[in-house]
Amino acid sequence: MTTEGTTLSVIKADVGGFVGHSSMHEALLEEAKECLGDAEQRGLLIDFHVTRCGDDLELIMSHRRGVANTEIHGLAWSTFEECTAVAEGLNLYSSGQDLIRAPSPGGLIRGAGPGVAEMELVERKGETVIVLMADKTSAGAWNLPLYKMFADPFNTAGLVIAPGMHEGFWFEVHDVKEHKKIVFETPEDIYDLLLFIGAPGRYLIKAVYCKVGKEIAAVSSTERLSLIAGRNVGKDDPVCIVRCQEQFPAVGEVLEPFSWPYLVQGFMRGSHWGPLMPVAVRESNPTRFDGPPRAVALGFQLSNGRLIGPRDMFDDPSFDEARHMCNTVADYLRRHGPFEPHRLPLGEMEYTTLPLVMEGLKGRWEDL
Ligand code: 13P
Ligand code: MG
Ligand code: MG
Repeated sequence: MTTEGTTLSVIKADVGGFVGHSSMHEALLEEAKECLGDAEQRGLLIDFHVTRCGDDLELIMSHRRGVANTEIHGLAWSTFEECTAVAEGLNLYSSGQDLIRAPSPGGLIRGAGPGVAEMELVERKGETVIVLMADKTSAGAWNLPLYKMFADPFNTAGLVIAPGMHEGFWFEVHDVKEHKKIVFETPEDIYDLLLFIGAPGRYLIKAVYCKVGKEIAAVSSTERLSLIAGRNVGKDDPVCIVRCQEQFPAVGEVLEPFSWPYLVQGFMRGSHWGPLMPVAVRESNPTRFDGPPRAVALGFQLSNGRLIGPRDMFDDPSFDEARHMCNTVADYLRRHGPFEPHRLPLGEMEYTTLPLVMEGLKGRWEDL
């Protein structure tokens, strides 16, 4: 079944790191390009771009099958499996890391481990999209920038001066612990929205919609690996698709939140707070203390479903200051060593290896 609109599917997984968790071996990218190239030849995909953020393999695909399509999800899964085999052949680190369980009997990848962000859209004249991808951090890391892009007039001038944006947006928020969703309207509900999204470990912005025209504006991956696996298997390293220009934030308004390195959970062993560093793809190699966490942004123009691009949007000296500040903040936090608030609070450490060490010391505790 094909649809009228163009669907963008960004599906990602860590299937093996090189070296350790710091980056990706070229052979994995080559294998993924071959798999998706074959699907393009067969007519399943219109176009694709394979890239990485740190050790995460990112499949950016355009097609006409709509969101949550079993053939597209099956293609992503088999691509990750092929790449896992390549990773195993090279004995790369933690091969197949995010492939936790086989896709659902229906063939969808949700709940299997990989992160998924998909949107179907009717292409506008000059359809501009940005794909955000992160490494060494959790799903929920996009809460703060999405709020700024779509609800903060100090970030987005268009909210004040552009007629298409002035009405505001709808935010769909998911509670990933209780499996519930709620929709907030902005600007009316911003205090209520912030009440929840200020706790990004549990309440995640899944999607944003324009009030005018009721169109999809942004969508993010909300898969929490630790909740899926019930243990620590690496961080979620989420992705997000954002439409830009006209009734959506301008490209510069989408990128502006990253000019200030806000704190996210992740970094070493997924157990520390660290500043998010906006970088070019080639610099998405988190090495110092397995970090600091990274974000990359690839821009495309969509043309009849073809992905014209990418442009590597953070490959720009205007983000030098953010990178510099990021290193300063990382220095400051690192001096806390194993102390909170650099290390995550105990509640958040539940899925790490810390409880195993605590368990071994149980017998040494005496009543006061
Ligand atoms: P990834 O989630 O990127 O694999 O990182 C895991 C980790 O533990 C880094 O120290
Ligand atoms: Mg890894
Ligand atoms: Mg990763």
